Amino acid sequence: MARPPLSMKPTGWFQVAWSTEVKPGEIRRMTYFDREMIAWRTASGEAVVMDAYCEHLGAHLGYGGHVEGEVIQCPFHGWQWNSEGRNVCIPYQDRPNRGRRIRTYPVTERNDSIYIWHDIDGRAPYFEAPDVFSSFGDDSTAADYYPPMTLHREALEMHPQYVLENGVDFAHFKFVHKTPIVPVFTRHDFGEPWSYVDFTITFEGDENQSIDDVQSGVEAINGGLGIAVTKSWGMIDNRTISAITPVDERTSDVRFMVYIGRTPGRDDERAAAKAEQFGAEVIRQFAQDVHIWAHQRYSDPPALATAEYEGFTALRKWATQFYPDGRGGSAADLHTAAKGPAE
Ligand code: FES
Ligand SMILES: [Fe+2]
Repeated sequence: MARPPLSMKPTGWFQVAWSTEVKPGEIRRMTYFDREMIAWRTASGEAVVMDAYCEHLGAHLGYGGHVEGEVIQCPFHGWQWNSEGRNVCIPYQDRPNRGRRIRTYPVTERNDSIYIWHDIDGRAPYFEAPDVFSSFGDDSTAADYYPPMTLHREALEMHPQYVLENGVDFAHFKFVHKTPIVPVFTRHDFGEPWSYVDFTITFEGDENQSIDDVQSGVEAINGGLGIAVTKSWGMIDNRTISAITPVDERTSDVRFMVYIGRTPGRDDERAAAKAEQFGAEVIRQFAQDVHIWAHQRYSDPPALATAEYEGFTALRKWATQFYPDGRGGSAADLHTAAKGPAE
């Protein structure tokens, strides 16, 4: 275990809750990016995430504050703040304080999740949070899938980037996930804030089969560092979302969801039980990764095998765009370019 050397204040979309955890009228306390925050939902259904402290005299709104329709009221002197963090009422004065504002975070709510946009420079969102269905450009919707199964681990000593590196790390599949053969990448596209990694993989058969004969695979979209969505093909239809959010300078929360596809015309209990079994297996495999990440010391620059060089270098270079404070590590090739890839 070691404190990640990469910035814990990256830019992008990050999950702070599941939708069901923020109910109308309730206030949820949370710490992310080393800041005390609250999430609440207006009576009309809008999810709001803002800093926790009242701009008047600093009461924590998550301890005794309450939601009144579209605003939140501070427990200390009753000042009311709207979903943009603006003061709209001082109960003992005829006008509000128009100048002070509680810092709010842009929110995207999709796929049963609440995401916030984080940027230490205060820039507005310049890319979107990915959607586990529509981002793959097919006609799929949540109705084609069973309700998601989830995993949630809090305050692990790890960084969002570890999870994305897992996507280009072909060698780990055989050792961590016990795939019979090593997967092969068919797409590495690191041009934009969203990057794309596709690979051919199988969990069946023995180690003597050829990867050229495998008829199944995974497509992954990394929507910045915070959220990755995947779609499978050629195996039991599943979609996953992994979302890693820095809590403080040492730790991150990990959330994972898996949606298993419904079989048209087969909506009986047996089909549902089978889907649940498969979902549990996907979660078990993700937990195997978490077990590594939570105890890993980030290696930078890493020692890479020749075949690992391209993927890791591309991913680490791509990742540096999300660290406005410059703490993005060296791109993977700095070391190997000087000394030649390790053979
Ligand atoms: S501290 Fe919030 S109203 Fe006074
Ligand atoms: Fe993995």
